[in-house]
Amino acid sequence: MSKVTVVGAGNVGATVANVLAHKDIVNEVVLLDIKGDFARGKALDSWQQAPIDYYSTRITGTEDYAATAGSDIVVITAGIPRRPGMSRDDLISTNAKIVTSVTKSIMEHSDNPIIIVVSNPLDVMTFAAYQASGLDSSRVFGMAGILDTARYRAFLASALNVSPKDIQAVLMGGHGDTMVPLPRYTTVAGIPVTEMIEMDTLDAIVERTKKGGGELVKLMGTSAWYAPGAAAAQMVESIVKNEGRIYPCCAWLTGEYGLNDIYLGVPVQLDKTGIKRIIELQLDKDEKALLYNSADHVRKVMEVFNGMTA
Ligand code: LAC
Repeated sequence: MSKVTVVGAGNVGATVANVLAHKDIVNEVVLLDIKGDFARGKALDSWQQAPIDYYSTRITGTEDYAATAGSDIVVITAGIPRRPGMSRDDLISTNAKIVTSVTKSIMEHSDNPIIIVVSNPLDVMTFAAYQASGLDSSRVFGMAGILDTARYRAFLASALNVSPKDIQAVLMGGHGDTMVPLPRYTTVAGIPVTEMIEMDTLDAIVERTKKGGGELVKLMGTSAWYAPGAAAAQMVESIVKNEGRIYPCCAWLTGEYGLNDIYLGVPVQLDKTGIKRIIELQLDKDEKALLYNSADHVRKVMEVFNGMTA
């Protein structure tokens, strides 16, 4: 009996709505975009896929926030994507304003939604939504870790010639080139990955993962959407089904890992309340140094954001 709003009917937002509809786990998906007809068109196209792929989820498109009233979950994908040569951080001045105003409009029509942020630069945009929403931090978090881990897992599956289903992994830190894939917590059907792969191949995969988003921007001239959209839909699924699945998500830290007042990627459990719990791994010295380096990077982007809103 859930209602999900997806803000932004671009490639990522439309994919979130479409993948979510295929899961057939929510009653209603509202796809909202300032280009109302574009959102209506994407929604209508997805709805016309329902008789073929057998789902009942109603998808509608709109530009009117009144139509989002009573949303249980809101996925924010609004903002501009990267072009070749840009880092995610270059998007901050445009996307900070968009994410802040979208969040305020959402809060005018829904009392206590769970907000999942997808817009970049992810960690700081999640903070922008947290600040603008006034919600508890357990209800505002970002999608990045599932996507980055999926890239890492896909690269490993190719290199080892195994099914991606059998690769389990954890990845932490900000959604940028300082992200921290963790080989020590990576397994192939329970077997430590280090027993299956040469170290330099693994190192190369870690490096490729860190720049995984940029690789796609270079290939396509814009940023990715299939895996990002599916990743956000997977988070919605764990919430709607109250599964308590463990995923790396961008969460507000209050002392975990010795970090305070920062949104950063960490493993969390997601259930109907949002973030049920943040899981603290026993990182070794090198892993901690990489995580702190990533946190420092996110704090620099935060300073730009704080400078904008001061
Ligand atoms: C990426 C964008 C969505 O990593 O940040 O592809």
